[in-house]
Amino acid sequence: MSDGSIDLAKDARAQAYATPLDQIDVSNPELFRTDTHWPYFERLRKEAPVHYCEDSLFGAYWSVTKYKDIMEVDTTHQVFSSEAHLGGITLRDFDEDFVLPMFIAMDPPKHDIQRKTVSPIVSPDHLAKLEGTIRERVGMIFDALPRGETFDWVDRVSIELTTQMLATLFDFPWEERRKLTRWSDVATAVEGSGIIETEEQRRAELLECLDYFTVLWNERVNKEPGNDLISMLAHGEATRNMEPMEYLGNVILLIVGGNDTTRNSITGGLLALNQNPDQYAKLRADPGLITSMVPEIIRWQTPLAHMRRTALADYELGGKTIRKGDKVAMWYVSGNRDEEAIENPNAFIIDRPRPRQHLSFGFGIHRCVGNRLAELQLKIVWEEALKRFPVIEVVGEPRRVYSSFVKGYETLPVSIPA
Ligand code: HEM
Repeated sequence: MSDGSIDLAKDARAQAYATPLDQIDVSNPELFRTDTHWPYFERLRKEAPVHYCEDSLFGAYWSVTKYKDIMEVDTTHQVFSSEAHLGGITLRDFDEDFVLPMFIAMDPPKHDIQRKTVSPIVSPDHLAKLEGTIRERVGMIFDALPRGETFDWVDRVSIELTTQMLATLFDFPWEERRKLTRWSDVATAVEGSGIIETEEQRRAELLECLDYFTVLWNERVNKEPGNDLISMLAHGEATRNMEPMEYLGNVILLIVGGNDTTRNSITGGLLALNQNPDQYAKLRADPGLITSMVPEIIRWQTPLAHMRRTALADYELGGKTIRKGDKVAMWYVSGNRDEEAIENPNAFIIDRPRPRQHLSFGFGIHRCVGNRLAELQLKIVWEEALKRFPVIEVVGEPRRVYSSFVKGYETLPVSIPA
């Protein structure tokens, strides 16, 4: 790490402890872009584990930062709603005049029925079938990487790989697969982030996505159901009569769900290994550790920093009363560093005894549908990487995403020694 980033971390710590508690706002995307959110969460866990912020970019909200409290909120869906019309699942409310219904932002019973429709895509049988395809494609991407020169790992590997996986899941026209990357970025971008300039632009691009996917739906609805997500939605009892915006919503959910998250785990893993050379050496000595390293990467990275709920009734948590209608953020990024739940949580340890004990996939009825697929993909990435490259060196600082929802990287310069 350069001296600059050490100074930044020091300043952030001083600032985090000097700010009056009631003025701490961990939703500020700048804290994530600069990777300086850690001391703020550390302080909240210690001094105000259930914390109210009155004023932020996203209005007033509660922060829940301890592992056990996050579990409580996530599993009490009768009180903590995900419904889109109440605002949805990120601190940034859904736009009232452009609501995209999707099952992650629904409560039972509708949520449960729609989730069941697409679940076969990640059945153990289907995953076993996908494994060979993913392995072959990972191999091709790795074999085409340059040696002895600097390139961007995010673009050449993480984005390309996850985009290919998504194209496979949707059976999407192969040559046009980068459209999926673009729609995923557009769906989650904050205005002025460099990805979109205005809300109008976002809507226009998402409507193009709907047009494109409608053509694919129409092609598949009258054919024998294929083993892809579009066929599953077009033929599913609960989904075949969806309104266009609901189709778009679920498509976006599946694109974003599978894309940013896995992409940032692939990048985060490489960064973590470079920041912890002893762990990289341990991995090279025993590639069998990939099995426990993969969940450790997902914990360490926490690709979605928070999920949001809206209280349907007053609720006591950690000695505070959350009022009906309040917004609540479950900060997975903080729960995953809670020393009361995870031993030595700030360390990246690839052979932890219980590595799947983390919050990155959430809990309860919305627990990530794609969690086994994401783990499979990361396992293959590292198996194929170790076969080919003794080391992949990070040669500069990553550029991080300006968002307090998607926690990830825009670029990471690396080099593979010739
Ligand atoms: C490391 C990778 C991934 C991470 C960290 C991740 C994280 C999450 C989280 C935090 C949730 C919400 C949990 C909650 O509210 O309790 C979620 C839900 C979801 N994820 Fe993932 N995800 C990943 C990969 C994937 C993949 C590969 C897919 C695609 C196939 C996917 C599809 C979904 C879907 C459809 C939901 C909504 C589930 C529901 O509402 O019932 N995710 N994910």
